[in-house]
Amino acid sequence: MASEQDVLDTLRGIKDPESQKDIVALGLVRDVAIHGGEVSFTLAFAAQPPQTKVMIHSMASKLVGRLPGVSKVSAKMAGGTAAPAHQHGHAHGQAPSAAPAAPQRPADMIPEVKQTIAVSSGKGGVGKSTVAVNLALALHGTGASVGIIDADVYGPDLPLMLGTRGRPGMFDNRIIPVEAHGLKVMSIGLLVGDKEPLVWRGPMIHSFIQQMLRDVLWGPLDYLVFDMPPGTGDAQLSLSQVIPLSGVVMVTTPQEVALLDVRKAIAMFQRLNVPMLGIVENMSYFVAPDTGTRYAIFGEGGGKKVADEYGMPLLGQLPLDPDTRKGGDEGAPITVRRPESAQAAAFREVARRVVERLDAVATLRPLPTIS
Ligand SMILES: Nc1ncnc2c1ncn2[C@@H]1O[C@H](COP(=O)(O)OP(=O)(O)O)[C@@H](O)[C@H]1O
Ligand SMILES: [Mg+2]
Repeated sequence: MASEQDVLDTLRGIKDPESQKDIVALGLVRDVAIHGGEVSFTLAFAAQPPQTKVMIHSMASKLVGRLPGVSKVSAKMAGGTAAPAHQHGHAHGQAPSAAPAAPQRPADMIPEVKQTIAVSSGKGGVGKSTVAVNLALALHGTGASVGIIDADVYGPDLPLMLGTRGRPGMFDNRIIPVEAHGLKVMSIGLLVGDKEPLVWRGPMIHSFIQQMLRDVLWGPLDYLVFDMPPGTGDAQLSLSQVIPLSGVVMVTTPQEVALLDVRKAIAMFQRLNVPMLGIVENMSYFVAPDTGTRYAIFGEGGGKKVADEYGMPLLGQLPLDPDTRKGGDEGAPITVRRPESAQAAAFREVARRVVERLDAVATLRPLPTIS
């Protein structure tokens, strides 16, 4: 088990970039408490700029979470120089965002968000982030307000794909998402440098997902899209425990090996009672630009097969297309880079069908009984 000393020693490893002094020496660390594997402390920030606060907060949670025996870290943020008031009622200035003692009901975390859509896949590399980003942009193109969360903690690609600039700011102890192409964006990739590999354990993923919801100032949104890690791991479990998901879009490529993993992923979401919106088959075919010949590079019919098996719609088949890849690499996804292209139209069609499905699955849910 970690001791208070271990926690402080670990936190001494984090320096305030401005003064180059460690955060313990600066007196920023207050109220260290350890209960079994759960460690909590408060970061009493003074005049640090918002991005420094976010960076220190995320490093502190991460490093303490790596101590042997630590299963959960809750690092509260407090403004001002005074230690935050606890039970006593005279808190000056802003209340720390993570402070309320009563457990929050999940829906209260993002009361202003109407629909939450997870984009998931059985395997990595099938184009999940590409679909998540272009789906979010296509939804935004219909006039909706849309946010996107990079919940793929193992490969946070959204900042690169969306070409985000700068780091998130802070307001009232909450993180302000970055804006890109009209979307509100949050990613762990925006908070930490890409030099250091992130080592994630289950409880850290859980608190990261909670933080992305509770501590981020999303404001009113019609849709919040989650780019999930591949597979059936902790993030999927945490997310479906933390908020009621409106539905899941499953991305696959057509070949049989990919389908095995998709079936596992679908089965998991079904066990968690999350509605499946349908399947997107990506890299379905390639049209040779010179001859117009259509090649089924990864085979044919896989997406349709799985969709039929589970009685859910095939939401779209997206071609393998060099411009789609380029758009992702250059921070200008195909739907904004070449909105007139057939690929962009295909993404808009997927978005249209997702909206249709959301309406349909919502009406399938049990209605409240009126006595
Ligand atoms: N339809 C497509 N055509 C061409 N390249 C694609 C397509 N979909 C995805 N890619 C490229 O394939 C790679 C993996 O896609 P990505 O969306 O990052 O997958 P995942 O999030 O599932 O790991 C990226 O380089 C991406 O640009
Ligand atoms: Mg990805």
